[in-house]
Amino acid sequence: MAEASTTRLSLFVAVRLVEAIERELADAFEATFAETDDSLAELRESATPFDAMLFSLDLKMGRAEIESLPNSVRALATYSVGTDHIDLDAAREHDLVVLNTPGVLADSVAENALLLMLGAARRATESIDLVRSRRWSGWTPTQLVGVQLGGRTLGILGMGDIGKRIAVRARALGMEILYSNRRPLPADELFSEGFRSSAAELIRDSDVLLLACPSTDETRGIVDAELLAQAKPGLILVNIARGDLVVDEALVEALRAGRVWAAALDVFDGEPDIASAYYDRPNVFMLPHTGSSTIEARMGMGLILIDGLRRWRAGEEIPNQVR
Ligand code: DGY
Repeated sequence: MAEASTTRLSLFVAVRLVEAIERELADAFEATFAETDDSLAELRESATPFDAMLFSLDLKMGRAEIESLPNSVRALATYSVGTDHIDLDAAREHDLVVLNTPGVLADSVAENALLLMLGAARRATESIDLVRSRRWSGWTPTQLVGVQLGGRTLGILGMGDIGKRIAVRARALGMEILYSNRRPLPADELFSEGFRSSAAELIRDSDVLLLACPSTDETRGIVDAELLAQAKPGLILVNIARGDLVVDEALVEALRAGRVWAAALDVFDGEPDIASAYYDRPNVFMLPHTGSSTIEARMGMGLILIDGLRRWRAGEEIPNQVR
């Protein structure tokens, strides 16, 4: 825990944020906003002894970057719930406090998950293309026949806070809910009965497999050819988590072979570069990582970081500290 200090916290903000949050940051702290794309170089070259730095997913904070930070920087606040862009071991070794944005974006991401599931099930890519290209020649009984989600089974890989909020919404659509986690949910929790002990068991029983787990050494590449070979016929694969959970070549091949009926992807390995084969597949519905892109989430993310940094400055417990 940091010692309480009476001077205003000096914060380097490496990322552009919604205007209202930039104003809140400027009110709360001595905030300096990066002026160039090379924000790390700006921070290193600045004469200001910053206490903390605020950044986001687009800035990789590996060991080298962490070790290049000025000694005055003692806290890292990431404008994201995911922390896979940060070398947390290196941060710990250098006694850096890391803050993130849990909870506040979960509803926004859960709503986006519904958009993705429905987009894939209702062939949104083809529908939008047809209408926007002005080629649509009118209703026919065979036009763009998709599938209904009600009555189908949703398998959630990673039943954390976001997974549960998706489950509640999907149940309202009439879906049955299964999930896989390291451990089953406590028996008195909603959905606990739908536990499957592995991704393989889950994919075998799911009509829609939705990835909601963090990217870790254990989960990276978990959706590979071997897993996809066990998919229930007609599977829809949805990824709201991180692109590197999926081996792109394996998914493209499964889509081509019809083992996977459709995919909906909000995140991509190596984004913003997207494996080009996805563009050729009309049964892939893609969004540009928009899970938390609502004003409610973006405000919440900023406010929780401001609160956390204030607590850190005051030497208090920080609920959104990454351990
Ligand atoms: C996160 O916060 O980790 C999301 O991927 C972006 O909002």
